[in-house]
Amino acid sequence: MARTPRIVLLFVLCILSGCISISSASSATDEFLSCLATDIPPHLVQTPASPSYAAALLSTVRNLRFATPGTPQPVAIVAAADPAHAQAAVRCGRRHGVRLRVRSGGHDYEGLSYASLDRRESFAVLDLAALRDVRVDAARAEAWVGSGATVGELYYAVGAASRTLAFPAGVCPTVGIGGHLSGGGFGTLMRRYGLAADNVLDALLVDADGRLQNKTTMGEDLFWAIRGGGGESFGVVLSWKLRLVPVPETVAVFTVRRSRNQSASDLITKWQEISPALPRDVILRVTIQRQHAQFAAMFLGRCSRLLRMMRAHFPDLGVTRPDCEEINWIQSTVYFAFHSSSKPLELLLDRGKPDELVKATSDYVQEPIPRHVWERTWSWLEKPEAGLLILDPYGGMMGSISPSATPFPHRKGNLYNLQYYSSWSENGTAALEKHMSWVRGLYKEMEPYVSKNPRTGYVNYRDLDLGTNELENGVTSYTKARVWGEKYFKGNFERLAAVKAMVDPDDFFRNEQSIPPLPGAKGWNSV
Ligand code: FDA
Repeated sequence: MARTPRIVLLFVLCILSGCISISSASSATDEFLSCLATDIPPHLVQTPASPSYAAALLSTVRNLRFATPGTPQPVAIVAAADPAHAQAAVRCGRRHGVRLRVRSGGHDYEGLSYASLDRRESFAVLDLAALRDVRVDAARAEAWVGSGATVGELYYAVGAASRTLAFPAGVCPTVGIGGHLSGGGFGTLMRRYGLAADNVLDALLVDADGRLQNKTTMGEDLFWAIRGGGGESFGVVLSWKLRLVPVPETVAVFTVRRSRNQSASDLITKWQEISPALPRDVILRVTIQRQHAQFAAMFLGRCSRLLRMMRAHFPDLGVTRPDCEEINWIQSTVYFAFHSSSKPLELLLDRGKPDELVKATSDYVQEPIPRHVWERTWSWLEKPEAGLLILDPYGGMMGSISPSATPFPHRKGNLYNLQYYSSWSENGTAALEKHMSWVRGLYKEMEPYVSKNPRTGYVNYRDLDLGTNELENGVTSYTKARVWGEKYFKGNFERLAAVKAMVDPDDFFRNEQSIPPLPGAKGWNSV
């Protein structure tokens, strides 16, 4: 922690001293900037020459792996305060050959919302953090939320409007709505209500021509693609209309920790079959770290029923009445994020600060991993550079939705999502390599025990090790992109590429893992 600010300082000094290769003098950039100036007030556009450029860029960089002097920097940061600003950024970018990186919460694990691997690419960041209104209509059980709001801000507004409505999204409150809904979004209510993206009713999007579209005007294919097809590829989603879901006034939660020498391997082994088969109004997640496993549950009902259920399905876990708390849903979001239900709800509004470097990846597990493998995993977890494993059980509603209903295909047949997550604060290549190798090594070791052909992963746990795009004749190659694309989207990847060909055939919205246009396609039905 103590050393983290140095990396940021170095980054800021580097920007101010001009050691980065930004072609601010290039005519394309100049033309882009003057084009923006006709529609966007100057204080909303920062260039490397602006005193607040570094602060604006870093404001929501959530992975300091991409805040080093070597990271290519944007030629401008456009802080949209109105849909017209986002439209102008798209039109000007397209006209003058400056690509956009769209940023909502900045949590992309590979920094794709503000950084580019391609040093030759001239790009600007379109930051949506200011577009964060949340309007809840409790009577209709609906809400409109700006992409720049965080999951925590959405939860807070829903909780303030009603004690019996909720929204099924992820557990981390600082995650941005824009990226989260674009890739799916799962959390403690998914076994009852599915993904965040499954509960989107409408959306307002700026398309590749800079036009504003809603569900009706964008058409069925594009509306399908933006609900789970990953961020950036199809346009800029400015806001989302959501279906809020009913929850009881009281929910029950517990967290119990079992160490390696308290039979944690046995419990994890059993958990794999028990948790996806539990009734859909309960979730029992596991986090495995150092030499223990932490089991955390939420049930849409009272402790008495939750404990009865645990005794019937998972007596070995040994959950007792003192472990269980009765709270309301909004408190449960604080409980899962901050490990205590008594912390103030206002913590949900804290957008946080960048303080760590992160590497993560994920798998889907379809057959229980044998006990001896979990036994072996403890030696990985006792290494000084070890990260943690997060196991999110599917089943319930997740298994009832068709894999082609949205681009998110990981429905029936998956027991759970397994996330490998490492975060650290030491600077330098040695630390970076150690932590990255830990994630990569354990991921490799798990290969025989997880989904195959393809080995699948979750697009919101983005990992560029799965593959990156290559260009062919100026557009992203579909054939090359299939390598990573089918891991995230399985059979839906082809339809996503067909939609891309229809709505952005020139491939304006692109990044290292954006959806490529399907050659020859004019739309999904024409394939
Ligand atoms: P960010 O702004 O970085 O965008 C991510 C991607 O989407 C980028 O490619 C970006 O260009 C694009 N994009 C962003 N806004 C867009 C918009 N408005 N229109 C079009 N494209 C847009 N996930 C989960 O399902 N459940 C969970 O519990 C968690 N928990 C969690 C904890 C932590 C600490 C992290 C770092 C991440 C998670 N996630 C998660 C993963 C999270 O859902 C994922 O990283 C999201 O893409 C982050 O969305 P942001 O808007 O913050 O990212």
